[in-house]
Order: sequence, then structure tokens, then C-alpha cells
Amino acid sequence: MAESIKGLKRTKRCAEFTEGDIGKEVVVMGWVERSRNKGSLIFTDVRDRSGLIQVVFDEATTDKAVFEKAKELKFEYVVAVRGVVQKRSDINEKLKTGTIEVIPSELRILSTSDVLPFPIEDEIPTREELRLEYRYLDLRRRPLQENLMLRSKVTVLTRKFLSDEGFIEIETPTFCKSTPEGARDYLVPSRVNPGCFYALPQSPQLYKQLLMVSGMDRYFQLARCYRDEDLRADRQPEFTQIDMELSFVDIEDVIDVNSRFLKYLFKEVLNYDLELPIQRMKWIDAMNDYGSDKPDTRFGLKLKDVTGVVKDCGFGVFTNAVQDGGVVKGLCVKGQAAMPRKKIDALVDYAKDYGAKGLAYLSIEEDGSFKSSFSKFMTEDELKNLVNAMGGEKGDLLLFAADKKKVVWAVLGALRLKLGEELGLIDEKKFNFLWVTEFPLFEFSEEENRLVAMHHPFTMVMDEDVDAFFKNPENCRAKAYDIVLNGNEIGGGSIRIHQPEIQERMFEVLGFTKEKAHEQFGFLLDAFKYGVPPHGGLAYGLDRVVMLMAHAKSIREVIAFPKTKDASCLMVKTPSVVDEKQLKELSIKVDIQKQGS
Ligand code: AMO
Ligand code: AMP
Repeated sequence: MAESIKGLKRTKRCAEFTEGDIGKEVVVMGWVERSRNKGSLIFTDVRDRSGLIQVVFDEATTDKAVFEKAKELKFEYVVAVRGVVQKRSDINEKLKTGTIEVIPSELRILSTSDVLPFPIEDEIPTREELRLEYRYLDLRRRPLQENLMLRSKVTVLTRKFLSDEGFIEIETPTFCKSTPEGARDYLVPSRVNPGCFYALPQSPQLYKQLLMVSGMDRYFQLARCYRDEDLRADRQPEFTQIDMELSFVDIEDVIDVNSRFLKYLFKEVLNYDLELPIQRMKWIDAMNDYGSDKPDTRFGLKLKDVTGVVKDCGFGVFTNAVQDGGVVKGLCVKGQAAMPRKKIDALVDYAKDYGAKGLAYLSIEEDGSFKSSFSKFMTEDELKNLVNAMGGEKGDLLLFAADKKKVVWAVLGALRLKLGEELGLIDEKKFNFLWVTEFPLFEFSEEENRLVAMHHPFTMVMDEDVDAFFKNPENCRAKAYDIVLNGNEIGGGSIRIHQPEIQERMFEVLGFTKEKAHEQFGFLLDAFKYGVPPHGGLAYGLDRVVMLMAHAKSIREVIAFPKTKDASCLMVKTPSVVDEKQLKELSIKVDIQKQGS
């Protein structure tokens, strides 16, 4: 039977013991990481979240009953050991406690463990589904424990930095109002208002703006956000933002405090020196040079525009694209002329996944001749001009996409990242921060056949574009900015509209009638009638920040209990069907046959 800890008090965590404790009687508690029975000696590693310490049961010197009990120890038993710390003869340099060990006088088995579904080891090949089903065991693994401890450090330091900068932490509701702009909402039915629903917040955007109207001046919150969107490695249906809003500010003020925040965080957590100012790039330059609004600037391989060079050449794929208003752009992949045909074909397929109709290539052989999928359509001079424009040299491989600008950006942007990774062009130790600025205010939604806000409908137009905003707003730029780290959008924000006439115009451009705008955002528009300071803010995806700090591959590795790709939790098994009675109380009828019935 499991024993109690009555009369025992843990001295400290396993890996907190040092040589300073030699000679002292201590109490260690934790999980049996492993117990090696060598006959007359039993070596047991006891582990907790700090690390582990070795306990040595020696048949010659240990109490007989204690030694017998030690023989029963198995993986993940929870134990308490009373004993004396002594210097270890065989030093283990890999361990924090590698120079000491505990010589036990008492052993209690506080809890036993069944055979585990997978071993508790740093690197295990176990499939993620099984690990998520037993997440509480997965979380015993050191890398995940370290990630969660790192995450805690980040949130503590975030609170400290922002409080010191005059931000106050305020909680905003999670039962909100559904608003159609943005991702799909998660809805919560109201029992007392049959047929009505709350929406879980996609972000605290409107509340934080209202807090500025209230005079809170600087607000922050570690806010849970909920978005019903397709999931990827860097997206979860519920995630956490470090959300902030500031009054009486313009872009530079937000960028300044946030640049200093990032410098502070990376220094305190990783001892990494982030040099200020952080590099900045206009959105249009990011798209043109990297084919992405979140460029990974740890390597070059920039996109080159050759539209002007090929517009009159003999290759129909290029000239037709240009005539249709498109562009031709290329990548010059250094030293890859000898890339096997099979590999190039794989790149073409990859490009097609991103909407390319094809991918034209040209390799510059060591003897200066060209091998290409399109050279037969072009004259020698045309080819030479193209190669020159690309900066191509002997041994290089040139890849081209011809299409509408958006398609070419997407295709070459994705190819660039793939090649960067495959060819080992990325220095994984680097942290490249980048502010991307001057985003377009709108983008055209083919689906809805209208302009939609690129950031959100409360984002201010750039001062230079205010006139155009009232005349032909399509190409206006926004006072919006993203903070990018190693090709990941870790945060984004904007200066908000605080002038009612601009906000009204915004809704008009977005195709809202006055009535519709008031029905959905009336409370904000009303609030703005009573004195509103100019304001702006930003929100980080906390999970993404921690993922990058931890060098993790997915935000699931830095979230204690994440959801799978289909937004379910394999451990508690949710979402799940609920009782008829519950549905009835909520006035809800479900129009789907229960599975299996
Ligand atoms: P935005 O929608 O850009 O801005 O979100 C801010 C940051 O939140 C993170 N993020 C996510 N992280 C994990 N899973 C998701 N599904 C997910 N979606 C977004 C990203 C992103 O940069 N209210 C505005 C901010 C503002 O204007 O102040 C907002 O929510 O890292
Ligand atoms: P085709 O004449 O269709 O065989 O195309 C010749 C080459 O051009 C092939 O390598 C195709 O992959 C490539 N190609 C086709 N369409 C495009 C395009 N839109 N952009 C770039 N290359 C293309």
C-alpha cells in the first residue's frame, strides 16, 4: 500500500542539492527515473522538475528492510528518501548533481506506477497522438518541463516589464459579442436568453480600445483568445496573447516600447543581446524581395524581378503572364546547377501546391552553357540578358515563376523557404527580428467580392493616404505593423481610428450599411462620441514567442494541454456530445445523427 509522508518534509528539489549539502541529513522526494539493481548495490535516480539525484542502496551498509524495499522500485514510482548526502566517487559531468549522492536510511514508496504507455525520456519516437492522450505523462519529459518553466518565466517578466512601463493589467470578458470580421467565432449558447449566443473573444480588441476611452492610458493582459480556423504548427484554436494598448501614441511610440520589451525579454530569459533598433521593412519590399509579409531574414536568396527583361522574349509562358498584367520573378540558387532532375521536378510540384502553373528553370553549367526547360524558346541574347539580370554565375540554378503578382509571391516565397531549409542556408542560432510596416489597409476578398480589412476595421490609414482613403481607398496603406522573428509573425498591431468620420468611412468601404455598422459596433462608435484619446497597440502570440525561444517546432510543445489538428483534446476527449437535457435547457436541437446510431 502506498505510504504517507507523515513526519517527513522535503528538504528541497532533487537537483537543488549541491556539494554544500555533503554530510547533511536530507529528505528527497520524487519519481524513480530508473533503478539499476547490481546485486549488492542499487542505484536509483530520483527525479522532479528540477532534475535528478542519485540514491545508492548498499547491501553492506543499508538497513535490511530498506534494501529489500529498494528492490521493488520500478519506473515512475513516487518515493521519499531520508539519507545523508555524500561525495560521489564516479563523477557524472552531465548531471547538475553529478558529484554527490544520497546514502539512504529510510525509503517510503508513496505511490506505485503501472507499466507506462511510453518511456519518460527526452527524445522518444512515440507518436504524438499517444503522447497527447497521456499528456500528463508527456509533461514529465524534461524538454516539455523546460518549455513550461520557460513560458512561466516569460509571463512573469512580461508582467514586470509592462508594469514598470506604466501599463496596468486588466481582464476583459470572455463572453463577448460575435462580430463577423476576422476568423470564425466559437459560440456559447445562453440559457437565459434562448436562441442567443455569446462569442468567445478572437482578441480583446474592442474592450482594450474602450479601456482607452475610459482613460486607463496603458493596458495589458495575458489574454486567452479563441479562433475557429484551420490549424497548423503555429496555430491553436485557443491561444494566449500578450495584449496591450496605449493612449496618446503614434507608431514610433508603440515600436519603441515593444523593441525595448523584446530586448529585455531575450536578455533576461536567454541571455541573448538583441541590438536596437530592430530592422524595419515596408510590407511592399517584404513581398517583392521575399514573397512574404513575414520574411525570414536569416538568409538571402531574394526574389528578383525580371518582368522588364523578358516581356518581349520568345517564351510564351513569360510574355503571356506579362501581357495579362502579371510578373516574372526568379530565384538564383547558388551552386545548385547540378541539382538532379528528380529534385527539380519535386520543386515544380511543390510550386504547384502554392498555385503555380509551372516552374521554369535554367542551370548554368560549368562550361558556361545553359540547360533549361525553356531555352529553346529564347535567343542566345535573351537568355544571356536574363541570366545577367538574375546575377547568375557558373554553377547556379535559376528558377522562375510567371503569373499574377500574388501567385508569384506565394510560390517563390514558399520555394525560398524550402530551399533555405534544405540547402542548410539558415543559421539556427540566430534570432532575426524585423518590424514589417506600411501594410495595405485593405485586401480584396475574391470569396466575398469586396474589400476586407487586412488587419481589422479599426486600423488607421497612414496620414499620407487620408485623402485617397475618401476617394479611391483600394491602395491605401495602414498604420499597421507586425513584429516578425525568424520568419514567424510573433505579433501585430496598429494605430487605431479615433475619428468618427474616418471610422464611418471605413465601414462604408467595407460594405457595411450605417445600420449594420451600428448594430455590430454601435457601442464603440457611441463611446467615441465622448472624448477618445488617439491610441494604438499590439498583441503578441505568446505561444509563438515561447516556441521560438525554446527552439520548439510547434506551439503544441509550449502549451500544457494543446488541441490536435481537428481541435480536439485526446486526453479529456472533447469536444463531446452532451445530454439531451442540457440541450433542451439551452433551446438547442442538434441536426446530426449521433455517430454509430
Ligand atoms: P492578430 O490577429 O495579428 O492581432 O493576432 C496577434 C498575434 O496572435 C498570434 N496568433 C495566434 N497564435 C496561435 N494560434 C492562433 N490561432 C493565432 N492567431 C494569432 C500571432 C499574431 O501575431 N487585436 C489584434 C492586435 C492589435 O491590433 O493590437 C490581433 O489580435 O502571433
Ligand atoms: P511548357 O511549354 O508548358 O512545357 O512549359 C515550359 C516550362 O515552363 C516548364 O518548365 C514549365 O514548368 C514552365 N512553366 C509553365 N508555366 C509556368 C509559369 N506560369 N511560370 C513559370 N514557369 C512555367
